[in-house]
Amino acid sequence: MTDVRDCEARSDARRFPARLSSRRGLLRAACAAGIGLSLPRTALSKVERSGKAEPPERGDVFVFVMGDRAGETIAPHDIPLGGPQIAAWPMEPKAKLVRNGTPFNQVLLLRLDPHEFDEATAARSADGILAYSSLCAHAGCPVTGWVRDHGTMVLKCFCHLSEYDPRHGAAVVSGPARHPLAAMPVEIAGGTLVVAGKFIGNLMPELGRGFLPAGE
Ligand code: FES
Repeated sequence: MTDVRDCEARSDARRFPARLSSRRGLLRAACAAGIGLSLPRTALSKVERSGKAEPPERGDVFVFVMGDRAGETIAPHDIPLGGPQIAAWPMEPKAKLVRNGTPFNQVLLLRLDPHEFDEATAARSADGILAYSSLCAHAGCPVTGWVRDHGTMVLKCFCHLSEYDPRHGAAVVSGPARHPLAAMPVEIAGGTLVVAGKFIGNLMPELGRGFLPAGE
């Protein structure tokens, strides 16, 4: 699977400043995800009206963000056991409305051995598949790295090297982030991977909390 690695290569995430001190800084960080916060305000408003920026709903399916299959529905078997993660957008299946109007909707999908999950993580998973926000809890860069070595399995953000343990609710293992990635419950319905509930946790990156107006 190359989706996440492609994103990593294209995001230039490491070039972002170590500290974001303004709304503009957060927007630049979000742009590393290749997604909507960089849209002009007028364009974003149109997108919002179309529903693309609405939060994921229960029953939404997932589609690939990039790569040869960008826009195609992600089946459970598309997610490799043992990683790495795949970047995904939720999509309302009837209208085929891809909710890519805001970076806060992008998720990463990962499949691991569910026997290694803690209880709360297992309850949000489906056949070992986990979903977390793609936005790093620290400053909102895309979490594109996957490190698996001698029993260590972490999701890694290359902006400032925060690491998260996906088997334990994406708790912070190292780095400057202080909070876990927001988690999205998933389930498999009729053989299709779908959203099972709203995000759990705070989607707003820590360095962005307090200076973005509510609703943005
Ligand atoms: S944005 Fe700072 S570690 Fe991810």
